[in-house]
Parts: sequence; C-alpha cells; structure tokens
Amino acid sequence: LGEEQMLPRPDIFDFEGISMIHYFTDNWEKVQSFQARPDDILIATYPKAGTTWVSYILDLLYFGQHSPERQTSLPIYERVPFLELTNPFLPSGTELADKLTTSPRLIKTHLPVQLVPKSFWEQNCRIVYVARNAKDNLVSYFHFDRMNMGQPEAGDWNSYVEKFMDGKIVFGPWYDHVNGWWEKKQRYSNLLYLFFEDLVEDTGRELERICSFLGLSTAVEEKERIREGVQFDTMKKNPMTNYSTVPVMDFKISPFMRKGRVGDWKNHFTVAQNEMFEEHYRRKMRNSTLAFRTEL
Ligand code: A3P
Repeated sequence: LGEEQMLPRPDIFDFEGISMIHYFTDNWEKVQSFQARPDDILIATYPKAGTTWVSYILDLLYFGQHSPERQTSLPIYERVPFLELTNPFLPSGTELADKLTTSPRLIKTHLPVQLVPKSFWEQNCRIVYVARNAKDNLVSYFHFDRMNMGQPEAGDWNSYVEKFMDGKIVFGPWYDHVNGWWEKKQRYSNLLYLFFEDLVEDTGRELERICSFLGLSTAVEEKERIREGVQFDTMKKNPMTNYSTVPVMDFKISPFMRKGRVGDWKNHFTVAQNEMFEEHYRRKMRNSTLAFRTEL
C-alpha cells in the first residue's frame, strides 16, 4: 500500500460554526495567537479558488529573481505556509511561517474572515483574496476531495452538490466565505479582491493589478516572464507547483492541476441540477453585491 492509502479519511465536524476536519483545528491555539509581521502578505481563498496560482505569482514577484535555487528545490506549499494546517508529513503552518527567513512572508489561509488571527488586522497586513464562481469552485473541490486522502470522502456527484449548497464541506459555506471577505474589503483598504475568472481571461492585466496593490515596480520583461511561468500548462509540468510531491494525493484519481478553466461546470451539472442550484444561489446571494462570471 502507498502512504496515501494508509491514511484514514478525516471526519467532518462543526467548529466555530463551520465544517472542519482536525488537520485545520489541531493547532488552533497557535493559529489564533499567531504573530503577524507588518510586511506579511496573507493569501486568502475558499479552497480551490486559485490559491496555488496566486501564491506562485506572488512568490515569483518577490523571490523569482533573487533565489533561483528556491525555484527548483522548494515546493510552493513550503514557500507559502498554510497557516492552519497540521499534518503528519510537514511541520505545522505556524512553525513553517515562523521559520521563514525571507521577507515578506507569504502566508496562505482558507479561513473565513471572522476566524483570521487578529494579529493580521492589528498589523494592518496586506491581504490578497481570490474568489471563483460557485459552480466551477464546486466542481474543482469535488475532484480534489476525491483524490486527496487528507479530505473527507467526496461521495457521489449528486450528494456533493447537496453538501456544497448546505456548506457541509471543509471550511464551510462558499457563500458566507466570499461574502464575508467581500464585506471586509469595503472597510479594510489593504485587501485586494481578485477573481479566478479575471486571471484566466487576462493574467497580464491581473498581474498589473497585483503589482500596483503591492507597490512593486517589477520590470516589464520580468512581468512577461512571470506571466509565462504561471500559465496552467507550465505550472502543471513544474514539480514545485503541481503538488506531485504530496503523498496524500492520488493523481490517478484526479491531478491537482486538473483543468484550470472557466465553465467546466457545464460538463458536470445536469440541466435540472443547474436550475436547482441557481435558484438556491439566488436566495443565498440575494443581499450580495458580488457578481461572478460562470463563463468567459
Ligand atoms: P480545476 O480543478 O478547475 O482545474 P487551489 O490552488 O485554490 O487549490 O485551486 C486549484 C484550482 O486552480 C484547480 O482548478 C487548478 O487547476 C487551478 N489552477 C491552478 N493553477 C492554475 C493556472 N496557472 N491557471 C489556471 N488554473 C489554475
């Protein structure tokens, strides 16, 4: 048996009002008391919204030119620690973050806005949030839960759609997550709210927005190099960004870098399912000013 087959699937339980698994709550005290530094940059997302993509973009912007070795030897999940994660294969996210010697520290989180450690707000840290339309986010999460033994069993497609609508998947309801962070953005100016669909449509344009938010005056040629380096096919081939080094993921079931497209939901939802989902979506998002694109 491979390591991934020996790991039992974790149970899902309610934690601070959201669905969680122990890998993200075991280290809770250290997560809540985490000491952010003023130049830390937090990359916040609902799972499967483009976390790795934006993490890699920021890593290249800050460290791409200075540490070629980092680019060939350190996988993205060690460069950008996952704050709330504890697992049997890696030091915890807080330990990895505390050990980082480079600055700024890039730190990833999937926490809903109300659970983010208060020190990030006290230090007025810059935050890059990425959101992805619900249907593609759901599809991507479904395949991720199928292949990742560190996640609860996905079950069949129909039941997964129900679980997503009920928010009974890890990190809770997508609806509250994207809206909570969107509301925060209206009050907290150091937050850049990006959309996966915009990144797919025009990565260069979004790269400009990111640079301007971060106050970076990266050279034109360097930006062009980054834009090429973060294309889906390039990242899929790169062992430092494609998660092929993670033992709990079974790429025979589904690769981490799966499709990277907008609109793959059309290959999954039946017509009836789509109608039901959209009806529920309209109710959940009735009071929201957020608008997503489900196709380009
Ligand atoms: P799909 O499953 O739809 O392919 P996260 O990093 O938050 O876990 O998100 C993973 C999703 O982002 C996957 O979506 C993955 O393929 C997609 N992704 C990662 N890098 C990408 C890139 N450079 N271009 C387009 N999509 C990318």
